[in-house]
Order: sequence, then structure tokens, then C-alpha cells
Amino acid sequence: MELRKEGFEIPVYISHLPNHEEIRDGLLEIIDELDAPAWTENGLNIARCSYDQGKLNQRWRRTFFDAARSHLSEVYAELKTPKWELQRAWFQSYDPGNMHHLHTHGACTWANAYYLKLSDPANATVFYHPSRHWVELRGCLESDSPPRLQPDVREGDIVHFPGYLEHEAPVTRGEDPESKTIIAFNVTQVG
Ligand SMILES: [Fe+2]
Repeated sequence: MELRKEGFEIPVYISHLPNHEEIRDGLLEIIDELDAPAWTENGLNIARCSYDQGKLNQRWRRTFFDAARSHLSEVYAELKTPKWELQRAWFQSYDPGNMHHLHTHGACTWANAYYLKLSDPANATVFYHPSRHWVELRGCLESDSPPRLQPDVREGDIVHFPGYLEHEAPVTRGEDPESKTIIAFNVTQVG
């Protein structure tokens, strides 16, 4: 008997913000001064977060997107999304022990996470294959489609992924407070 398999590739793209070094310290300082509240609902635990905090979303946003816009346009053009608009953006700053449980970003074309500060790559986002239950139970995906993927990222990288893709921030390792700060943003195709 012949058993043929066909499947889909689930894309997670990684780019590096060219001017990361130039904006890093200033942006961290702006975010630090905001003294954002913790986000602890539904079992997640993030020390400082601007999600749903409209007043906190002004200066750092301008600084980041002014610096990143042309790079992002280049990335999205490559990803066949030449016309795009920003849907929502927020920052998250993690202390050791913090985590963000499994979630998706819903109805956006590309969800993104920029690693403004990442002292340990083990603290990077972990993605889960949509068919991971079949993968784990029945072993029906090739080894190059792992059920769990932690991309090899470093500070200054941006991951770009479909908004439906489940992911989590693993429990943050390390000793230093504020060992990871990310800027998350959702982008939608227009036109
Ligand atoms: Fe997320």
C-alpha cells in the first residue's frame, strides 16, 4: 500500500533590526520611566506591560516605529504584504520567573515580537505547531516540522509569524530583573 503525505509549512520568519544598537538604550530608558503596571490576569505573570494602557503607548511607539518602519516595509514586501498597517503594539518587560502562557494574536496578518532586550536566548518565544497533538500522539510529521519550536534569536531580532500561531513566553530564567523586554505588534494587510 502506498501512503502519500502532503502538508503545509508553518512560517516563522526572523529579521534583525539594522539600527537596534542605536535605539536600544534610549528605548529601554523611555519604557523604564513609564513604570508600567504588571499584567497578571488569567494565570500570566508579566512584571511590566503596556497592553490596554493607551496613555503609555505614545513616545516609545513613535521612537520604535520611526526607527523600524523602513525595515518592516522591506520585510513585509518580501512576505508579499506590501501594503500594511499597524493594528496594535505593546511592550512587555519580564523579571525572572515571569511567563506568558499559550496564546494567539487573533485576526492579524503578521504578529511580531522585537527582542529589545534578551539576556538569555532560552527566554525567547516558543511556538507550537497547530497539529502538535497529532505530532505527539501519532508522530505523523517529519522531524523538520517539530511540535515545539524555539527559534534561534538574539537581541535586536524580530520574529514575524501568522497571528493564529500559538506561542508562549517560557518562564524567564536568570538573576537580573528586567532580563527580557519585547515590543509586540500586530500588522494587517490592507488593499
Ligand atoms: Fe504573543
